[in-house]
Amino acid sequence: MASANDSRQTTKDAADQNFDFMFKLLIIGNSSVGKTSFLFRYADDTFTSAFVSTVGIDFKVKTVYRNEKRVKLQIWDTAGQERYRTITTAYYRGAMGFLLMYDITNQDSFNAVQDWATQIKTYSWENTQVILVGNKCDLEDDRVIPTEDGKRLADDLGFVFFEASAKDNINVKQVFERLVDIIFEKMNESVDANQSIVSNSKPSPLSEHPPPSQSGCSC
Ligand code: GTP
Ligand code: MG
Repeated sequence: MASANDSRQTTKDAADQNFDFMFKLLIIGNSSVGKTSFLFRYADDTFTSAFVSTVGIDFKVKTVYRNEKRVKLQIWDTAGQERYRTITTAYYRGAMGFLLMYDITNQDSFNAVQDWATQIKTYSWENTQVILVGNKCDLEDDRVIPTEDGKRLADDLGFVFFEASAKDNINVKQVFERLVDIIFEKMNESVDANQSIVSNSKPSPLSEHPPPSQSGCSC
């Protein structure tokens, strides 16, 4: 998937321990919607029109600055082909964010979004953040999925929505930045919620008395 230079860079980034946060992200969606192209555009600013379907799973690492923090993104690019589903879903666990991608010129890829969303619910963390991406928006003449339909589906599923183009480099960086931002927002909400639990917890009247001592028995 990567050239020698790319993989040297990826290895260097992957080994870089100088970061404040590490976010694990996954790109999922039907085969040929442009997942690999999207990642290559973001990580290496390259695009090729040749289609080399991904076998199994691969990843790239990119470090970004957001909210004055160094955030290391470990971005997993999954194979869309059904036969790799068992392998790819094994990587959903622990993912903090997903790009769920369809191709605006391909009805099947849009029809499959609901199934992909179910896969996320089934295999990943409940607080994971998802962006629905309608890719290939450079192909306006071949469009079969109106922007409104994408928006409506994203609203129904509770996802953020973008149309983008890996080819013309439209909204690629913006999609990743937004995903990082909503992951941060979710993290802050969780911290706030925990703090309010702590600050709301008044000592109970019984707390003047020591709790009954616990035996060391764990049974
Ligand atoms: P799998 O690895 O099989 O799951 O497919 P994938 O989703 O990774 O698709 P890939 O990135 O390999 O792209 C499939 C084809 O679509 C390739 O021929 C790409 O050049 C083309 N493609 C990807 N993104 C765009 C885009 O934004 N616009 C156009 N016009 N073509 C694109
Ligand atoms: Mg691929």
